[in-house]
Amino acid sequence: MKVLIVGSGGREHAIAWKVAKSEKVSKIYCAPGNAGIAGIAECVNIGAMEFEKLVAFAKEKEIDLTIIGMDDPLVGGVVDAFEAEGLRVFGPRKNAAILEGSKAFSKDLMKKYDIPTAAYENFDSPEAALEYLETSTYPIVLKADGLALGKGVLICNTKEEAKDGVKTLMLDKQFGNAGNTIVIEEFMTGREVSVLSFVDGNTIKIMTSAQDHKRAKDNDEGLNTGGMGTFSPSPFYTAEVDEFCKKYIYQKTVDAMKAEGREFKGIIFFGLMLTPNGPKVLEYNARFGDPETQVVLPRMKNDIVDVFEACIDGTLDQIELEFEDNAAVCVVLASDGYPEHYEKGFKITGFENFEGRDDYFVFHAGTKYDGDDIVTNGGRVLGVVAKGEDLKTARANAYEATKLVDFANKYMRNDIGKAIDEA
Ligand code: AMP
Ligand code: GLY
Repeated sequence: MKVLIVGSGGREHAIAWKVAKSEKVSKIYCAPGNAGIAGIAECVNIGAMEFEKLVAFAKEKEIDLTIIGMDDPLVGGVVDAFEAEGLRVFGPRKNAAILEGSKAFSKDLMKKYDIPTAAYENFDSPEAALEYLETSTYPIVLKADGLALGKGVLICNTKEEAKDGVKTLMLDKQFGNAGNTIVIEEFMTGREVSVLSFVDGNTIKIMTSAQDHKRAKDNDEGLNTGGMGTFSPSPFYTAEVDEFCKKYIYQKTVDAMKAEGREFKGIIFFGLMLTPNGPKVLEYNARFGDPETQVVLPRMKNDIVDVFEACIDGTLDQIELEFEDNAAVCVVLASDGYPEHYEKGFKITGFENFEGRDDYFVFHAGTKYDGDDIVTNGGRVLGVVAKGEDLKTARANAYEATKLVDFANKYMRNDIGKAIDEA
């Protein structure tokens, strides 16, 4: 089989690494990819939003399966563009990717189908939003409706902050049209868990749980980022939580999408908060998480191509997902200054230390070739992952592994997986 992967981050590197393990796969292409992905796939210089070029490339190379990693092309309808040409593609169509593409849609869906989530109201006028804030309780949460690189969520401690937030999102349009509509919702407390799942329209199969660290600095200080590290499984995702979510969240979401005429095939990523009143949905994503994927896929036993195909064919009920009885931790190595100002172009050394190992991995996020050298090319540069028999061992291994690669400006959090000690 020939496979095309669309995307360029650590998530797509982990997907490509897992796809390469399938005996069915003879060739992998990645558009646009990065320097790490280039080690296992042929990278092609087509952007993830260039649908016509992607489709033409897939036809020309007779690609058997295309996997879309990123949210923007999914929400923009890349799957519909592939299907219109009779090409096999993994991911939700545009009318289903709205589950991630519009927070107002997803909140209304949860309300209509009685899926536990924070209380909320949607607003498309700033005046109405400001008026609502007069009688609200604080803290309160403001969310841009559309995609905003994970940055469209504002936690506001006071009325003044919230009013400023409405201005930022709706009037100054910091996130463009994503802020035409906003959701204002109840502030919840509790531990967060990321649960990824495969969905074939009817059947949903849950992968092992994970936890992300979104803030830039230790102790969850600093700005929100794309994710500074992850661990899997989450010790807080107990059998009881799993049972609750299976009963009230997962299948109900899939059934709700079908009932709305928006059959969902692909990945649903449930961002959950384990509140004192039980698990609630913080958000849905319509794709693999980054950097959750980097700790989930190395623990997955199945041939992932079989699972992708079962989702497309509607035969996921015949697949049993299996995960190793161990743990994995990912520490992101970033450029100092991320997510604000940082320099790029520094040579990275030490990749040879990871060659041939199946317990340590280095997934590339922002790297590129400069002649024969691999250099830093983004805020998040690498995701160093290690497995271990349990979470504490995996964490110790991951921090050991961070010493094996080096570049100027290397920055990481030193407390990834700290919550493990509190479990
Ligand atoms: P989201 O993009 O919706 O996952 O939001 C980003 C982050 O904001 C989440 O991971 C939470 O840490 C936080 N957050 C979002 N919604 C709420 C809420 N209703 N209450 C408390 N924190 C929230
Ligand atoms: N790690 C969070 C996300 O992928 O959105």
